[in-house]
Amino acid sequence: MCGIVGSIGKINTRKYLIDGLYSLDYRGYDSAGLAFLDSSNELKIFKAVGKVEVLDSIAPKEFESSIGIGHTRWATHGAPNETNCHPHVSSHKEIAIVHNGVIENYRALKTRLMGYGYSFESETDTEVIANLLEFNYRKNHDVLDGIRRTIDELEGSFALAIIVKDQPDRLYFMKRSSPLFIGLGDEYKLLASDAVPMIKYTNKFVDLKDDEYGYISKEEVALFKGYDKLEPEITHQSPEFLNRDLGDNPNYMIKEIQETPQVITRLIDNYFDGEKFLFNPKMIEAIKKSDDIIFIACGTSYHASLMGVKYMQYLGKRSEAYVASEWAYFPVFTSKKPLYILLSQSGETADLIRCQKIINSRGSINIAITNTKGSTIERNATFSCLLFSGLEIAVASTKVFSAQVCLLALLTGAIEKHTNVVTHLSVVTSALEKIIENKQDIENIASKIENASMIFFIGRGNDYIASMEASLKMKEISYMHCEAFAGGELKHGPIALVDKDTCLIAFNSDMSTNLALRNNVKEIEARGAKSFVISYSSFMKDDDAFLVDNVKSYLSTIVMVFVSQYLAYYVTLHKGLNIDKPRNLAKSVTVE
Ligand code: F6R
Repeated sequence: MCGIVGSIGKINTRKYLIDGLYSLDYRGYDSAGLAFLDSSNELKIFKAVGKVEVLDSIAPKEFESSIGIGHTRWATHGAPNETNCHPHVSSHKEIAIVHNGVIENYRALKTRLMGYGYSFESETDTEVIANLLEFNYRKNHDVLDGIRRTIDELEGSFALAIIVKDQPDRLYFMKRSSPLFIGLGDEYKLLASDAVPMIKYTNKFVDLKDDEYGYISKEEVALFKGYDKLEPEITHQSPEFLNRDLGDNPNYMIKEIQETPQVITRLIDNYFDGEKFLFNPKMIEAIKKSDDIIFIACGTSYHASLMGVKYMQYLGKRSEAYVASEWAYFPVFTSKKPLYILLSQSGETADLIRCQKIINSRGSINIAITNTKGSTIERNATFSCLLFSGLEIAVASTKVFSAQVCLLALLTGAIEKHTNVVTHLSVVTSALEKIIENKQDIENIASKIENASMIFFIGRGNDYIASMEASLKMKEISYMHCEAFAGGELKHGPIALVDKDTCLIAFNSDMSTNLALRNNVKEIEARGAKSFVISYSSFMKDDDAFLVDNVKSYLSTIVMVFVSQYLAYYVTLHKGLNIDKPRNLAKSVTVE
């Protein structure tokens, strides 16, 4: 799961590559590297372990070049050291490549190539592609033929930008499963894993499909699949949704949390015209006709899908949610007319892509709910609903969680023809605005919990779902040990863990469970833990830690999770950790 860029033609190669890598480092930041041909067509390579900043500091400040490639890595095969860092060069130094993806048959290919005298320096699967490309190219000195043969031999996923040393006027590419886009300028052409690095230079793109390959040059795009030459299909992207400006914000996470009210308003505008909902009627019909609505997702998106289950059950539908990495290997087929809803911010999560392949192979209807137009999951779904949330760059998903729940609520309203969901969501945006005003109080709670040895998050009903998401967010960025429990479950085991160094955060948005939940809090306090209740203001108690305005109970999760995002944010800020890029993680999880 990596990010790649490439450029050819009249453009500042260094600037495009380095800026592009900065914008792609959400895909991994274990190491970064670039390669270019200089004015004498010498291949120059720079590699750095760590974030793009390190590469930026070691690469020459200026270089004369009209062809270059770059890479930011999330390590899969081999440790994040300089040898394993991309670009990788073939044994005879004729070919340099950057790769995003995983080659499944790399061991067999490596053994074969070693038999032909090829040597390997790194532990990566990528070096095998570099050598295989060179081996196939050398058969008749035709690069396109070499690429075609290589595609036929590779098993797995790849998006590649390829420099062939003796062809400085062409930048080659090939793609399967991993995303790859071409950007079209008048006197230059670009490659990147998504449109973001290119949007400053062009709004015309070619979204490459599986097994396509070819080259870009200053003037042209040559596209092939197998032996066929294809006409590139040009699409346009709006810069508005690809904006990376931080503004006055110190980091992306706080920017994205604070954008949530606007994101909800934009989502309403996109799916409701003031009188009626704007969802595809065929999709609504398909949901109505199905006998089982199955949600599949990972991480935060999975937590949003748990709300989807509640909404579908409220409509009287059978519904359940599965974690994608489990369902992918242990799928269950117990209904005659299932309909699958796949939630994914990135639309590129490998576990979910595996599930979608199974679903599509059975001819079942699936709806992709995603923030990423043109992503694999969006493209391969029967229907898709975009979240229009703008780029989410911080690794921890915040505004998109709210957008996912909001979209599911709007969808439920559309199925039921209940437009008052729109009014209810407007109340949510006001409640969120008020939380933003009072964020200092959340920071105070953060100061009181940040030295705990363990944090418990509890709630009942929707608040239990909020607890799960709150716990994930906190552990993901603050590295604190957190657990989420249904309030009533504590006494069935977990309470044994509680001591005076434990902190408890309790979400309390449901009148019917208010008393029971408060009893759970007392039980924990009696064992020496500190507790903090986040409550609806209508049934507050004097010692509650933070109050939120009441919203309709089916939307309370958005509000409670919003508070928890701030809480995780402040704890992490106080600890001085990297908020946007927590250790060991990447934004887009494109490996299983
Ligand atoms: C947590 C987080 C992850 C993602 C998960 C799924 O903050 O961001 O848990 O939610 O990796 O990613 P998507 O939604 O892109 O499929």
